[in-house]
Amino acid sequence: MRSKAAAKPYRRHIYQGDPLAAPPPPELMVILDRHRGEPDALITALEEIQAHYGYLPENSLRYTARELGFPLSRVFGVATFYNLFQFTAPGRYIIRVCKGTACHVNHSAEILSHLKERLGIDENETTADGLFTLQTVACVGACSLAPVLVVNDVTYGNMTPAKAWEALAELRGESTDGPSKEEVR
Ligand code: FES
Repeated sequence: MRSKAAAKPYRRHIYQGDPLAAPPPPELMVILDRHRGEPDALITALEEIQAHYGYLPENSLRYTARELGFPLSRVFGVATFYNLFQFTAPGRYIIRVCKGTACHVNHSAEILSHLKERLGIDENETTADGLFTLQTVACVGACSLAPVLVVNDVTYGNMTPAKAWEALAELRGESTDGPSKEEVR
């Protein structure tokens, strides 16, 4: 006969291992190697990591702390203090609505609120399908085309709310003549 103790279900422990047991991925190691022994390089290193991945993956922060010798609390503290840093993967297309003076006086706020409403997201959010991330930006140096919308590396000038939405329809592969666009980079 089995005792009561023997009938107790075992608690399951799933060993997940040390997420940092492996060395950093090579592309991250290249960035970290550039800043070894530089006590003031934390923000620069985080900027470079974000430029590479499009955001700051959590493990990249842990690797940064370990490899560059910063306390983990400092790395997380700096990363969360500056709102330029993102912690989730961006969408395939990053839409930036310019809020600089020239664009502002030409009603860029209306473009922003129209895109928020049509996409169903707020600033710094990504659509559920992972296609679009909506952001704002200060002057992008194309004031003569104000108001301006930048999608990844393409600048769309002389926008209206309707033309901005058309630009995104084009990116979704929907049939449209599309608005005028100007490459500035
Ligand atoms: S203010 Fe928008 S491009 Fe200069």
